[in-house]
Amino acid sequence: MSFRLREFRPEDLDRVIFINRTCLPENYSRYFFMSIHKAFPDLFLVAECDGEVVGYIMCRIEKSFFRPPKGHVISIAVLPEHRRKGIGTAMLKEALARMSERYGVSECYLEVRVSNTPAISLYENLGFRRTDTIPKYYGDGEDAYVMTKILR
Ligand code: COA
Repeated sequence: MSFRLREFRPEDLDRVIFINRTCLPENYSRYFFMSIHKAFPDLFLVAECDGEVVGYIMCRIEKSFFRPPKGHVISIAVLPEHRRKGIGTAMLKEALARMSERYGVSECYLEVRVSNTPAISLYENLGFRRTDTIPKYYGDGEDAYVMTKILR
């Protein structure tokens, strides 16, 4: 089945929240999703299959006085019945291209549970490498890998 990517629209909010809660223990308020959409509308993407949203990626640009801005993948998820069709890869590739072309960032990073083999494989396939480990990063005490990709 084919899919298409497009930018998140406010009317997608309930569906994206459903996907987030179905797929991940890290959940966010409606306000948080909308604030990312308002700040970086071109870095919050959804994937549609047959007109239905089945996945999303939400990213932002992290700015600091002391170092160049970096892209940050906050959350990515695809509904279980739509996995292994390349949707996660397509969403992440598109977000990385936009970070580089539109925001000029040279690096993107993300945090991932050390046990999340599917996501780690996806990130490694796209050129992310483990750059750090954050002990007890998650609410249940699990550690996170920080994974980083150089974009240019
Ligand atoms: N086991 C091993 N490798 C896996 C995998 C799995 N269950 N799922 C994906 N991969 C790897 C494979 O290398 C795969 O390539 P292949 O299918 O050609 O072998 C590659 O990732 C790309 O898979 P793709 O189809 O693009 O990813 P997806 O659409 O299935 O989405 C996730 C991947 C991680 C977004 C999806 O599994 C998901 O929503 N997981 C729950 C939420 C989550 O963990 N998000 C990440 C938080 S950091």
